[in-house]
Formats: sequence, structure tokens, C-alpha cells
Amino acid sequence: MLSVVVLISGSGSNLLALLKASENPLYPAKIVAVGSDKDAAGLAHAELFEVDTFVVEPERFANRDQWAKTLLANVLHHQPDLVVLAGFMKILPASFVTALRGKLINTHPSLLPQFPGAHAVRDALTAGVTKTGVTIHKVDEGVDTGEIIIQQEIYVEPGDTEQTLHERIKVVERELLVSTVEDIASRRIVLV
Ligand code: GRF
Repeated sequence: MLSVVVLISGSGSNLLALLKASENPLYPAKIVAVGSDKDAAGLAHAELFEVDTFVVEPERFANRDQWAKTLLANVLHHQPDLVVLAGFMKILPASFVTALRGKLINTHPSLLPQFPGAHAVRDALTAGVTKTGVTIHKVDEGVDTGEIIIQQEIYVEPGDTEQTLHERIKVVERELLVSTVEDIASRRIVLV
């Protein structure tokens, strides 16, 4: 059984998909804790599923490195085999990434390397592309630059707004994340 810590900053719909999947005894991964950089709405999902939560707010630390060190300590406390950034909106320093090398993945709402960063859906619409998508990738020291594990395309529809397009992306993203974590757990995908 793969032990997974999920980090979120928002509504946590990707987290919820993982929590629901892991209720199935045949699903080979278990969410052991959920962390956030703020009092994110999605933490309520973890509480409903009786999964431990932790919040480590950057504002409470003198600098980013101290914040990341405490965040890492909270993550490692749960001894995860895998750490999933599922809508975690803070950039993590190299020390955090290095400590979790081979265990850290991120889900991103574009076809990387197109549209990295916090406004991927808006940037895709502004650029006028006809298709965008989802990328699940390993995390390296850069912003959304790690090795791509899997991608799925989604067509932009006429009249799409950032919200309608992102909602359609998230439907696909949730399924892709659940199946990718399953594939990592069963070693169909090997991270190192
Ligand atoms: C996802 O699309 C994720 O890729 C992006 O933010 C969204 C988070 O959604 N970075 P949720 O919090 O899982 O609902």
C-alpha cells in the first residue's frame, strides 16, 4: 500500500477524488495526511474522511526556507511514499524538492511546457490555443518544469471562459491523477 501525503491550497476537488478512490480496498494507495499553506476549503474533505491535516502558513515564519523546513517536517512525520501537489499554490524551495526527490509529483492544468505558473488556464485562453489539457509531472527545482509523467488534451470550446474551461480540465485532471497514483503504487509508473 502506497502512503500518500497531499498538499493543497484550494477547494481540494483533486484531493477528494483521491480520497474517494482510496476508499476502495482494491485501490493500492492510502491518503495518510493532507497539508496546506492556508486554511484551505479542501481541508474539510480530509476531515470528513478522518485523515490527518496540517496547516503551515508562510506568514508565520521569518523566511521561506524556515517555512519550507517546517512544512517538510510535517510531511515527513507521516512517512509518505509519495507526495502529491494537488493545487498547492506556493513555490517550494530546492531543499524541499531535494528531500523528496523521486517522491514528489504535481498536477497542472495545461499541456506543459506550455503555460506554466499560477494562471495556466487564463494564459491558454489569452494565447488563443484550440487545445490545452492536463499534465502530471515530477517536481524539480523549477516552476512546472519537472519531467512529464502523463498528459491529456482538452479542446477549448467557443465561448469558453477561464472558469468553464478550468472546470472541464478538472474533470479530466481528477481521473488522470487517480489513475496515475494507482500506476505509481503498482509500479507501472516508476518515479526513480
Ligand atoms: C487544479 O486544476 C490544479 O491543477 C491547479 O489548481 C486546481 C486545483 O483544484 N493548480 P482543486 O483545489 O483540486 O479543486
